[in-house]
Amino acid sequence: MFSIMVLFVCALLCAFVCMIVTQITLKRRALRHFSLPPQRNWLLGHMGMMGHDEEGLNRIDTLIGQYFHSCAWFLGPFCNIVRLFHPEHIKSLLSAPASITFKDKIFYGFMKPWLGNCLLLQSGQEWSRHRKLLTPAFHFDILKKYVSVFNQSTNSMLEEWHRILATGQNTLDLFEQMSCLTLDTLLKCTFSCSGHTQGKASQYTAAISELSKLLVQRQHYLPYHWDWLYWRSEQGRRFQKACDVVHAFTASIVQRRRAELSEKKERTGEHLEFTAGYKRKETDLIDLLLLAKASQHGSTSDEKGEGLTNEEIQAHADMFMFAGHDSTTSALSWIFYNLAMNPDHQERCRAEARSLMHGGHTLSWEDLSQLSFTTMCIKESLRLHSPVLALTRFYSQAMSTPGNRIIPPGCLNCIGQNFAMAEMKMVVALILSRFQIFPGPGPVRRLYQLVLRAEGGMNLCIKAINESESSKSNRYHHTQTPTFMAGRDLQEHESMFSRLMERHRSKRKRFLLHRLVVLSRLSPGLEDRSTVAGHFEKLNLRLQRSRPGEDITGLLLLYPQHTLHATECSTETLLLILEDLKNMEETPHGGPLLNPKILLVSHDIPTRHFQSWSHVFLNQGQVPPHTLEQGLEEVLKHTLNQIQRLGLHLRNHAVNSPVIPDELVKDWSNDLPPETAVSRLLQTEMLLSPVHYMAIYHSPQHQHLDSGHVFSSARPSAV
Ligand code: HEM
Repeated sequence: MFSIMVLFVCALLCAFVCMIVTQITLKRRALRHFSLPPQRNWLLGHMGMMGHDEEGLNRIDTLIGQYFHSCAWFLGPFCNIVRLFHPEHIKSLLSAPASITFKDKIFYGFMKPWLGNCLLLQSGQEWSRHRKLLTPAFHFDILKKYVSVFNQSTNSMLEEWHRILATGQNTLDLFEQMSCLTLDTLLKCTFSCSGHTQGKASQYTAAISELSKLLVQRQHYLPYHWDWLYWRSEQGRRFQKACDVVHAFTASIVQRRRAELSEKKERTGEHLEFTAGYKRKETDLIDLLLLAKASQHGSTSDEKGEGLTNEEIQAHADMFMFAGHDSTTSALSWIFYNLAMNPDHQERCRAEARSLMHGGHTLSWEDLSQLSFTTMCIKESLRLHSPVLALTRFYSQAMSTPGNRIIPPGCLNCIGQNFAMAEMKMVVALILSRFQIFPGPGPVRRLYQLVLRAEGGMNLCIKAINESESSKSNRYHHTQTPTFMAGRDLQEHESMFSRLMERHRSKRKRFLLHRLVVLSRLSPGLEDRSTVAGHFEKLNLRLQRSRPGEDITGLLLLYPQHTLHATECSTETLLLILEDLKNMEETPHGGPLLNPKILLVSHDIPTRHFQSWSHVFLNQGQVPPHTLEQGLEEVLKHTLNQIQRLGLHLRNHAVNSPVIPDELVKDWSNDLPPETAVSRLLQTEMLLSPVHYMAIYHSPQHQHLDSGHVFSSARPSAV
């Protein structure tokens, strides 16, 4: 009896494991149309492979360099995502309607104990209702009022900088400075609160940075995805403690404003809810939140006359405190980093700001639209060092990426973007008009914890500008000549953008993608053409295994007597594939291929033609022969176009299996290069053999290798 029970339990367990394994496999198979970077192992997938420090972020850059548009990514056994990198791929998804867009549990759900049921974590109808309710708080008429706060807060910080310099210290952690400044302006502008938070504010910012760190750690440690375990762990307890600090801070601000409003109501007898509704475009965020709740007039509340519950008010307040403060801090710190690395651009921004200040230290709302060069630098810095590096979404219906399908726009964007832009322009202009910023004593390393931070702080050097220097900077602007960039100091530094672009280029260089097309004859002694397919399949597998992140895609056409093989891969892999061909060429009777010739090597291609590697067997008569009247160049051009079109067919039919089914091949017969064309190309003198190509490659005189030339008319494989 006992053994039957044991057997029964074992059978149940086996069935359960089989079910889970099948589910995982099916879920992963659903993403088979996307390239799949090598994983840690089958179970964990890519979990923890990237990291959030400088090295981890470099690995992400590498991934983007290699996969360019998108790739599949498996976070443990159950969470499979598609990573989209290219703006064109992301654009349509971000503007998808709110009704089909949802936020996930891992990236957003873990924030719930901290941010509650706030806009950032809401989806669908609920999100639409709250977003509509809160949007008026960021109307331009309201933002205009905040200009005086930006002026006053930034200038008082700069007075402090003068005092710090007087003590002999000239290095500041800009992240810390910007954090204090943006918290101060946020509290004053959107929470109608000033002055009484000193002391508590530093506790609050420390708690936010603790929460950001703990959230990232939780995402990366699979066992902590289970609430039960997390809240019993030391990390979970620390998270709860930091949440308490943050909640107490915002609750005190909300309560204080609530008391002020009810006191005002009693004093003036004014119906504040009505006034707030009537003057909706002049009401600060906190008043909008608080008065929406009690409104019976359908004015500050939504169409249904519903306002916000106390929990919702608290959640939104917590969210605005975090979203409005940390992201702007990060953005400003990296803007100053980039300007410090690029003194010529810094100088130009300074001249622009000073020309609007007329010797004073303030800017008006109207001035902000005149800061065009400064705006360009801010936007470029946001692109290079984006405060929020990744967003996650899931959709309740299949979405196409990209394509001609037009999805009606929604508005899943940052509600505070105009506030942030106005503040950033103001702060950059005011600081640069009075101080110069230089690179700090050590290198700055990126650290991504909910927003992009700097490991150990963003330490930069500052120098106050004296009057003679500032008038010089004004003179530069009045003469309207760009020669101000040619000062002695400035000449010593190259431009920030050229430097950063060079850094990006040199990083990318290692991950350049190339396309190789090789033609060859099949060895007459070859009995089975699948030997050739097997050879390349094994080679690709070996190369991909030995080179983490490598993705070899392409197509092998196996004719009765010839082959045409297109491969897309990185530089190092390209050389190894060529080595393999060279070996075959040098042992003519040992290999399955004879007389291989390179039809094309395209360096640094912007995108792949093929999503995976596959092969197809073509039989006699299956492909019509080419017209003999065609000139050689025409044959060549036609063949390359056909290869490109085959890539498109494979992509459109989502073919991802190693062998292309016969029925598909039939439909594409016009786009299959004829075997006669392959044979004709092989007979020309102008194609290089792998041995010849490698000899040129290793020769120091050859300058074209990295030039990106595809082919010249005289020699198709010129590279
Ligand atoms: C340079 C500064 C800023 C950057 C780079 C930034 C970036 C972003 C991004 C990327 C999102 C989308 C997040 C997601 O869906 O996961 C977002 C949402 C949001 N941001 Fe910002 N933000 C900035 C400043 C601000 C400011 C100043 C405020 C408020 C005062 C703010 C409030 C919000 C809110 C409430 C959301 C959620 C919106 C929604 O889901 O409808 N942000 N922000």
